[in-house]
Amino acid sequence: MAAADQTARPMIEIVDLHKSFGSHTVLSGINLKVPQGSTLVILGGSGSGKTVMMKHMIGLLKPDQGQVIIDGDDIVPYGAVQLEQLRKKFGMVFQAAALFDSMTVYQNVAFPVLEHRKELSEAKVRALVKEKLAVVGLSGIEERYPADLSGGMRKRVGLARAIMLEPKIVLYDEPTTGLDPITTDSVDQMILDAKRHLGVTSVVISHDIASAFKVADNVAFLSQGVIVEQGTPAQLRHSTNPALRAYLSTWFDLERRS
Ligand SMILES: Nc1ncnc2c1ncn2[C@@H]1O[C@H](COP(=O)(O)OP(=O)(O)O)[C@@H](O)[C@H]1O
Ligand SMILES: [Mg+2]
Repeated sequence: MAAADQTARPMIEIVDLHKSFGSHTVLSGINLKVPQGSTLVILGGSGSGKTVMMKHMIGLLKPDQGQVIIDGDDIVPYGAVQLEQLRKKFGMVFQAAALFDSMTVYQNVAFPVLEHRKELSEAKVRALVKEKLAVVGLSGIEERYPADLSGGMRKRVGLARAIMLEPKIVLYDEPTTGLDPITTDSVDQMILDAKRHLGVTSVVISHDIASAFKVADNVAFLSQGVIVEQGTPAQLRHSTNPALRAYLSTWFDLERRS
């Protein structure tokens, strides 16, 4: 995959971000830029602060220090009303697809527009749901229930819902954790398709290095509260950073043996 154009305007920029919970310092000086239309994958061990970092991007957490610049604006000083506006720029896909089991696919996907765009007619909502399901490659499943779908299909329905409000940015927190290899491939493809068809800027948290290298324009490796390495997948493979090498070697060993 071609490297992202690092000169493109950053859609997300984090400057010297610090965050502690009590005496536990999680992030101690994060700097990061995500160019518009590119995909950044955040790698790091369990508990290294990946989710905490992502939560700062949508203002779910406030930093102790630093800036979080989204689409040109520092969101750190934002109050509740501004944050609600900001969140319309984001779509989010979490580990558990978090669909409502008692609702049909149609009702699940329509949910954000029924909440935020009450002025739309039912026919318009139907048309939008149909369009978004087509984008994720799942036409005609409106009347099915989440329980009848495979894990990969549920993820796709989750993405269809996340893009209903036409976000500029899509955040994925461990979208492939717990999935079998074939479903993992289909979710990776979904992330690539969403980028290509929607032109969105994406941030993906992953612990799956194969997936990470497949979908990323850039990869950032988080360790000990800082981003110790950041670059294209090819650059990361050749990194001399000891923490990153240790992290990658576990995976390369497994791959060699399989
Ligand atoms: N709201 C919170 N209050 C206190 N500690 C938290 C909170 N959220 C996260 N942490 C701690 O911050 C660290 C990083 O968490 P997290 O970002 O979820 O890790 P991961 O890299 O696995 O996503 C963990 O030690 C976690 O316990
Ligand atoms: Mg996490």
